Amino acid sequence: MTRNHDEQTITDAVLERLGDARSARMRQVSEALVRHLHDFIRDIEPTQAEWAAAIDFLTRVGHKCDDRRQEFILLSDTLGASMLVDAINHRHDDGATETTVLGPFFVEARPACAPGENIAPDVDGTPMLVTGSVSGGAAGPLAGASVDTWHADGDGYYDVQNRDRSTMRGRFETDDDGRFRFWTVRPSAYPIPDDGPVGEMLSAQGRHPYRPEHIHFMIAAEGFETLVTHVFARGDPYLDEDVVFGVKDSLVADYVQHDPGIAPDGTAMDRRYVHLHYDFILQPAAPAESPADA
Ligand code: BEZ
Ligand code: FE
Repeated sequence: MTRNHDEQTITDAVLERLGDARSARMRQVSEALVRHLHDFIRDIEPTQAEWAAAIDFLTRVGHKCDDRRQEFILLSDTLGASMLVDAINHRHDDGATETTVLGPFFVEARPACAPGENIAPDVDGTPMLVTGSVSGGAAGPLAGASVDTWHADGDGYYDVQNRDRSTMRGRFETDDDGRFRFWTVRPSAYPIPDDGPVGEMLSAQGRHPYRPEHIHFMIAAEGFETLVTHVFARGDPYLDEDVVFGVKDSLVADYVQHDPGIAPDGTAMDRRYVHLHYDFILQPAAPAESPADA
């Protein structure tokens, strides 16, 4: 029947139109979307005004996006959707470093850096030495792995939020022993950008916008899954209430405070600094699948 639909038959009417979807996957996804969306609407029974407000909210999320601001990623992250997708795609438990959200502040055009380089040479803050290694588990240390890093400053801002130039980010390569090191400034916990519709949503839901202090890493090596993760600062008060639900115990490490002296990389420090060390383990790449047909 294609007319006179009621609150129940409207769902089957839409599902019946999906038979000629371009692929089996497109049909499966579309059917699930319609079923869940209709069930959601029957569950909340919105007024016309509430439904218009929902459409206005999504419209404003889109309008807030530009090349520096990705409000849809914020929406996905704050609703836990990003971490759910992450969990579904990383079900293995074989000793590889755990993953977490990419977030909206990764930028493709990041500087390639030399070993030990300072990625925040003219940013005020507590000096921080980051050292680490990349291994393939049983495959041993991975030489030539690419190690991308990015993080906020001590006031909680990324370069893309308040600067025109790229800083506190860079791409390093591991040495023959799979090691890398760099200097930067210590980040801090920070609120995600909350001056847009996602911020309005958080405050309407009675939630704060904070993430615990962390440094982002994206690590890639041939033959291995690219690892997207962070290393969080042990002791941060927001570890148990990250607004994007991204914290995992295995990703919490000591940001160790040191008095002036010779740092572990041999640098003579005349003021206090912080040292973080983390050893990453990559997951061997899954065998290639045939291209998705959606
Ligand atoms: C971040 O850590 O950069 C981030 C992640 C999710 C939402 C906002 C920021
Ligand atoms: Fe971040």
